[in-house]
Amino acid sequence: MRLDLRNRVAVITGASSGIGRAAARALAREGVRVVLGARRTERLEEAVDAIQRTGGEARALQTDVTRREDVGRLVGEAMTAFGRLDLLVNNAGLGYFGRVESMPVETARHLFEVNVMGTLYGIQAAVPVMRAQRSGHIINVSSVVGKRAAPGSGVYSATKFAQNALAESLRLELREAGIRVSVVCPVSTTTEFFEIAASHSPLKVDPAGPVYSAEQVAEVIVRCARRPRPEVMVYPPARLMVIMNAVAPRVMDRILAIYWKKIRPGF
Ligand SMILES: NC(=O)c1ccc[n+]([C@@H]2O[C@H](COP(=O)([O-])OP(=O)(O)OC[C@H]3O[C@@H](n4cnc5c(N)ncnc54)[C@H](OP(=O)(O)O)[C@@H]3O)[C@@H](O)[C@H]2O)c1
Repeated sequence: MRLDLRNRVAVITGASSGIGRAAARALAREGVRVVLGARRTERLEEAVDAIQRTGGEARALQTDVTRREDVGRLVGEAMTAFGRLDLLVNNAGLGYFGRVESMPVETARHLFEVNVMGTLYGIQAAVPVMRAQRSGHIINVSSVVGKRAAPGSGVYSATKFAQNALAESLRLELREAGIRVSVVCPVSTTTEFFEIAASHSPLKVDPAGPVYSAEQVAEVIVRCARRPRPEVMVYPPARLMVIMNAVAPRVMDRILAIYWKKIRPGF
């Protein structure tokens, strides 16, 4: 089934930079009316201006996804401005690079607050609206490390596994309600993600392995919005890793240990 996205309404969290901003632009190009949420309002206003200059319809609202009421207001903004909500992209997130054994628990808690609780608040704000409409689509922007963890990002991976689990459960819970649920799993993407992670991590990491741009990931999100699928790997061969990990985790450990030494020396 291919959906016509024109005049649909999307809320995108973490839309002030990177994948979220690119997704807002790409969706707007398809005729989607977009509502952007993040903490940095200047960035949001710039993104809204850019969309409006090219004829798109966009709104922005300052949103800290760790605050449930902010996320509720963001969904409310979509309803006030456009009267409906067809797509929620739970994209706001951040990472950390360092060992599990020494990660400060406050940082770990913050990652869970943003990546997991932020996603849950989005779901809980959007589902009642979508249930009433008997239609809608929720996309969680997870990660390939939400399918198989690697050294140096264990807690971040745990948050991404959690986003996948929420989506899997929700997909079945909402089966009869006409609401689709997807996860999009990017690999390394050149955004501010690595810089921001480095600002509170012991290890500085650059994008490595297959590297995508935010615009490429945004196109994958648009395709998923048009043709909802349960789980989309931005780098399709990553699916082999997931299968291999399910049937032979010990082999996958060995492969990853060798690969990681190559792409991330020091981990
Ligand atoms: N880049 C990668 O290699 C990669 C790979 C796999 C998955 N991902 C996932 O892709 C998503 C987007 O990341 P990105 O690569 O585009 O990084 P990014 O450029 O750093 O963007 C992160 C976005 O999240 C927002 N954000 C952070 N904390 C927030 C909070 N408390 N409340 C609201 N918004 C918040 C930021 O906005 P403000 O600071 O303005 O609030 C920003 O707009 C994340 O979920 C990340 O885990 C990224």
